[in-house]
Amino acid sequence: MKILMVCLGNICRSPMAEGVMKQVAEDHGLAHVFVDSCGFESYHLGDAPDKRAVKACKNHQIDISNQRQRLFKVSDFDIFDYIFVMDSNNYNDVRRMARNEQDMKKVDYLLNVVYPNSNKAVPDPYYGSDDGFENAFLLIEKACKQFAKEKLLVQQKKD
Ligand code: 4NP
Repeated sequence: MKILMVCLGNICRSPMAEGVMKQVAEDHGLAHVFVDSCGFESYHLGDAPDKRAVKACKNHQIDISNQRQRLFKVSDFDIFDYIFVMDSNNYNDVRRMARNEQDMKKVDYLLNVVYPNSNKAVPDPYYGSDDGFENAFLLIEKACKQFAKEKLLVQQKKD
């Protein structure tokens, strides 16, 4: 199973989501899960995640420092089974790139895993304090753990 995490900058929320989902998959012994992340803003192309995102993850024993920023591309619709966005701007950005309804069937808000159909956002912590990063981490972690329980473990039983 292939999962793509998407936000605007790909230096704060989606790198944290990539790191958390990988950790959750590893904790469950799920070797067949591939996770990546990307964004829509090229200011930080090729950069490592924001230091505050790295720190927030490190506080929870997750190392995301080796990740590098990349942009979303249309071929991601072909590669990934699930494309999770952090907020409505990301959703609209992805929708603009979609070729058809089939592409959009893969796309959902990450927090809809926990709060179905609510389209709640993982708030962008970029312009805020460290608290915002911890808050984003906890929301992301809750969703990833729930996703693992509902989808990854079920999928593993089928494999
Ligand atoms: P992210 O946060 O979408 O969670 O990675 C942002 C990071 C950088 C920018 C915007 C949002 N930026 O405009 O540089």
